[in-house]
Amino acid sequence: MKKWQLAGIVAALSTVSGCGGKQAGTPADAVVPPPASAAPTSTIKPVVSFNKLMVMFVDQAADPIWNAALKPPRTDKGWEQIEYHAIQLATTGTLLQVGGTGPMDMKWTNSPGWVPFTQQMSQVALAAAEAARNRNVQALQDAGDQLVLNCEACHRQFKPDLPTEGLPTHLSRGIITAPVQ
Ligand code: HEC
Repeated sequence: MKKWQLAGIVAALSTVSGCGGKQAGTPADAVVPPPASAAPTSTIKPVVSFNKLMVMFVDQAADPIWNAALKPPRTDKGWEQIEYHAIQLATTGTLLQVGGTGPMDMKWTNSPGWVPFTQQMSQVALAAAEAARNRNVQALQDAGDQLVLNCEACHRQFKPDLPTEGLPTHLSRGIITAPVQ
């Protein structure tokens, strides 16, 4: 770093923190702030928006779970598919903590209330996966019910009336607020 840059930072720091008594240009005292462009919580770069993740991932994985709770699969292959979808959903809980490329996504990710909802999504989805592995219809129904509550609770707190990228759900499901036409 060039000397003049450092002096600039020290000068800026003393303005911000109010410690004006210090002499600008004393490198030993300089606290170099992280670059403004640094990601606040993670260096992992998301590649899709939450709106896309919800429509093309969460919704696609959750729907077969609810359908199976109403009409349980009759083949091993059918049960395996439910387990796969449940694991996809559990993973999405983690992805939702990383952030997304949508206009509001990083703000949501960094809100205090966000992470518990994402963790709950993963936990309930893992319970659904286990229920599918055990061919346990009652446990699958319980997990499905908890999942609806999880979607609804997070949507009540965070979801805007209109999807930020204009991608609404393809389902006319009551639990998801229909976009205003
Ligand atoms: C951690 C919070 C959170 C959880 C849990 C969550 N969502 Fe979302 N969801 C959002 C947010 C925020 C948006 C708005 C995204 C945007 O518009 O950028 C959204 C948007 C959506 C959309 C697209 C918008 C629309 O109007 O149709 C669908 C579909 C959706 N969610 C389905 C689900 C389903 C199904 C579940 C449960 C299995 C779920 N979500 C759980 C936060 C969450």
